[in-house]
Amino acid sequence: MGLAKVSNGFSVKAALRLCERLKLSATQTDALFRAMQSGNAARRAIVLSPKSTAKNYQPPFSCEPRKKYPWLPENVLLPDESVNPAQHADYAAGMYYVLDISSCWEGAALSAVPSAPEKSLDLCAAPGGKTMLLAARFPLRDHTANEVQACRRGILRENLLRCGVENTQVTGLPPDQWAIQGDQFDLLLVDAPCSGQSLLCKGISNPGCLGSAAVNGNAKRQRGIMLQAVRCVCPRGHILYTTCTYDPAENERVVSYLLRRVPGWQAVEIPLLAAFRSDLCDFPAYRLLPHHGFGAGGFCCLLRRFS
Ligand SMILES: C[S@@+](CC[C@H](N)C(=O)[O-])C[C@H]1O[C@@H](n2cnc3c(N)ncnc32)[C@H](O)[C@@H]1O
Repeated sequence: MGLAKVSNGFSVKAALRLCERLKLSATQTDALFRAMQSGNAARRAIVLSPKSTAKNYQPPFSCEPRKKYPWLPENVLLPDESVNPAQHADYAAGMYYVLDISSCWEGAALSAVPSAPEKSLDLCAAPGGKTMLLAARFPLRDHTANEVQACRRGILRENLLRCGVENTQVTGLPPDQWAIQGDQFDLLLVDAPCSGQSLLCKGISNPGCLGSAAVNGNAKRQRGIMLQAVRCVCPRGHILYTTCTYDPAENERVVSYLLRRVPGWQAVEIPLLAAFRSDLCDFPAYRLLPHHGFGAGGFCCLLRRFS
């Protein structure tokens, strides 16, 4: 596997420990190391915006056939790898939003939400990718894109405005302030702040992201956010929990903590993502890794309040 060569700003020992925790085979471990080392696992997708879906829009560049990606929603396309879609005038005109394909994979979990939400909240929204994926699947009726960091709210507003996302307000409340307002939402997106281990596979330096301090600190914050998130959702409502990191402590274990601690919730099967089901837990949760060949990777779990 050429471990001696793995030096792209991350600790080989910590990466090996992570692979053990993920119970990866030798081939999968090799693929993850290669992706971390080369930093070229990112793959751009475009999410057609409400502006373009209204006009039956075709992008001005060629896109890959979608057959390989049965879980992609219809209005998410994969430009040929030679294309940089953010450089086209149509991007500035808000015809589409650009995301890594692994974010779109996470958004595919929304396929198991049975109907358009009446009232939805993207709790960790900036710069707006998950709200764009929600808008690509359902008409937004009463949506809130919330971002606690004031310095990230401007770009969130700008992106949603440029792409013509309607019926959406931008706010900046911390999760506990939403929770005290009661269980008013039927869909919550929690794209949690995380250690961002997948950034390494996109060639973005992220020192310490494999270490226990980063992982445990983020896991604690994620558990805190989720304990507030469940208080915002009405009976039969859903939470989509996602991260762009690999560690089980920030993924399966956050969900399992919540399911043990809060009665009335269950994780929901996502048939479209069956091939990605995590074997690190006994409830339906899904993880994407570089060896799957669909971008840098991530985790998703859809939770439903049944009482
Ligand atoms: C992974 S990013 C969200 C990306 C966004 N959903 C998208 O798809 O473009 C996580 C966001 O959570 C915000 N955040 C950080 N700490 C938070 C907290 N304690 N509660 C809620 N959000 C937090 C960060 O500012 C960051 O914008």
